[in-house]
Amino acid sequence: APAGAGLSRNLGATQFSPVPPNTHDDVTTADGFTSDVVIRWGDPVVAGAPGFDADNQTPESAAKQFGYNNDYVGVLPLAGRRHLLVTNHEYTNEELMFPAGRYSDDAKRKIAIQSHGLSVVEIVRDPEPGGYTVRPVGKAPYNRRITGTTPFTVDGPAAGDARLRTAADPTGKKVLGTFNNCAGGTTPWGTVLSGEENFNQYFGTDGALDTRYTASYARLGISRTGDSSRKWRLSDPRFDLTTEPHEVFRFGWVVEVDPYDPTSTPVKHTMLGRFKHEGANVTISRGGHAVAYMGDDERGDYLYKFVSAERFDPTETQQAKKHNMTLLTKGTLYVARLTGDGAADGVHDGTGEWIRLTTDTESFVPGMSVVDVLIDTRLAADKVAPTKMDRPEDVEPNPVSGKIYAALTNNTNRGNSAIPVDEANPVAGNKHGYVLEITENAGDHTGTAFTWLLLLVCGDPNDAATYFGGFPKDQVSPISCPDNVAFDRQGNLWISTDGNALGYHDGLFRVPLTGAKRGQVQQFLSMPTGAETCGPLISEDQLTAFVAVQHPGEKGGSTFETPASTWPHTDAFPRPSVVAAYRA
Ligand code: FEO
Ligand code: CA
Ligand code: CA
Ligand code: CA
Repeated sequence: APAGAGLSRNLGATQFSPVPPNTHDDVTTADGFTSDVVIRWGDPVVAGAPGFDADNQTPESAAKQFGYNNDYVGVLPLAGRRHLLVTNHEYTNEELMFPAGRYSDDAKRKIAIQSHGLSVVEIVRDPEPGGYTVRPVGKAPYNRRITGTTPFTVDGPAAGDARLRTAADPTGKKVLGTFNNCAGGTTPWGTVLSGEENFNQYFGTDGALDTRYTASYARLGISRTGDSSRKWRLSDPRFDLTTEPHEVFRFGWVVEVDPYDPTSTPVKHTMLGRFKHEGANVTISRGGHAVAYMGDDERGDYLYKFVSAERFDPTETQQAKKHNMTLLTKGTLYVARLTGDGAADGVHDGTGEWIRLTTDTESFVPGMSVVDVLIDTRLAADKVAPTKMDRPEDVEPNPVSGKIYAALTNNTNRGNSAIPVDEANPVAGNKHGYVLEITENAGDHTGTAFTWLLLLVCGDPNDAATYFGGFPKDQVSPISCPDNVAFDRQGNLWISTDGNALGYHDGLFRVPLTGAKRGQVQQFLSMPTGAETCGPLISEDQLTAFVAVQHPGEKGGSTFETPASTWPHTDAFPRPSVVAAYRA
C-alpha cells in the first residue's frame, strides 16, 4: 500500500494531485496511479472471433470482435473476481478504421453496421487489485456481441403501432439492431440500459419524404441528406426513408440488455419515450418504484424522468428477475420545467416541476394519444413548456445522497432569440457547459416538485462566469464540456468530458459534493489526442476507475494513414479501448 497521509487505494477517499491540463497522446493519470488497456476495438469477444487484422476486416469478424467507439461502461459482478463488462459502441470513424483504397464502400458500410451495438465481455480482476484481464474467449460463456442486425423485441404502449411496422416486420415488434448507443445505466435488477442517441444520421433518401411524418422527422433532424456521411441505405434499403418510411421510428428508444442471459432477446422500451436518448439511470424510490432519469442531447432539449407503475421486487435475483424486467413497460413519463429564483442570492438556482406527459393508458398532452406522445416525445413536450436546456447528457442519481446530477455539455445557440438565457442556462454561447444538481422535494423520486442548483458553471476558473460549487477557484482544475457522470461510495461525483474547448485534452474529474471540499474539481486523468472520455465507472470495490477512450485520433483531416493519434500505441492507427486506472 502506498505511504503518506491521505493516500489510499480507495478512489473516493484518497488524496491526489490533479493532472495538469495537457495534450499528450496518452491516458495520463494523477501521480501515483497507472492505467491499463482492458480491451480494444477488434479484440475477440465471442467464440470463433479471429484476431484483429486491419487489412482483412469482414462483417462476420466484426460481429465477433469488440466494436468501435466504446461509450457506456457497466461492470456487473459474476463470482469472486469475475465480472461482466458491458459497453456500448456508439458509432464508427471509417476514416480511422480502413486503410485507403482497400475496401469497397459497400464492405465498409457492412463492417460498420456490425461494429455498432454493444459488447458483453467477461473480465477478471487481477490478484493485485486494480487491473482487469479479459477472460479467454473459450472460457467466457456470457460473452456476447449485439450489433446492427441483432433482433430486438419492442415493448410498451407503442409496440406494434402502425408507425413501427415495416415490410420486413409487419408486427412492429421485432427490430434488427441498435445504433448510436451513447450513455446508459446499470439497473438495480442487473441489466444494462442504453440510449439510442443520434439515430437520424443512419437514414436518408434520394426520393421524397413521407408527408405524413414531416413534423416528426423535422423535430429529430431526420432529413433526406441526414445520412450523407454513411449512406447505409445503399447497402440495406431499410435505411432509405422513401423505401421504408417506418424503419426510423424503430430507433430513438432506450434499450435493455440482460448480460446474465446470453440467449436473451434485448428489448426496446417505448414507455420511456423516443428522442435522442443519451442514457437512462434507474433508482428505486422509497416506495419501491423504479425511477429512470434521462436526458435528450440536443441544443435546447429537455430533461425527462419515468416512474414505474409497479414496484421493484428485491427478492428477485440477477439470474431470475422476471417481474423486475417488466418495470419499464408501464408508468408515467415526465418532462422538467426549471424556474429561477433570481440573481440576488448570487447563485443559479430555483424550483422545478416534473410535468406529466403520459402514462401507459392516459395522455396528458392535448391532441396526442399515449402512443403519439411516446413516438414523438419532443413534439409532445413542446406543448407543455418545459425548460430548454443546454444539451442534457448523462443524468444520474447519487446513490449516497439521492440528489440527481445532470451534465449539460454546452450550447453555442444559447442566447439566440429562440433560446434566451435564463437562470438555469445563464451563459450566452455556452461553450463549456454546466453540472446541474436536482433535489427532489422530501427526497421523493416519484414526486413532481424539486429544487435545483448549478453546481458547476464550467470553464477556465479565471473566467468570472465560472462557478465551482463555491470552492475557491484558484484551487480547482479547469473543466470543459461535461458529458458523463458517476459516483463513488463516498458520494463524490466523477465527471468525464467531451470536447474540451479550453485547448486541452478531455479527461476525468473528481468533485466532492459535501463539506468544506464541495466543488473542488480535480482532474484525475486525461485522454489521448482527439478522444472523448466515456464511461466512466468507479468499481464496486472503489479501487478502479474504468473509462472508455472513444474516438482517439478523431480530428479534422486525420486518416488511417496519417492518424492524429496512434493510441494505445499497439498499432500504427488508433483503437478505441476501455481502460482501467488505479493506484500503482
Ligand atoms: Fe453521444 Fe450526447 O453524447
Ligand atoms: Ca438564484
Ligand atoms: Ca455522451
Ligand atoms: Ca457527448
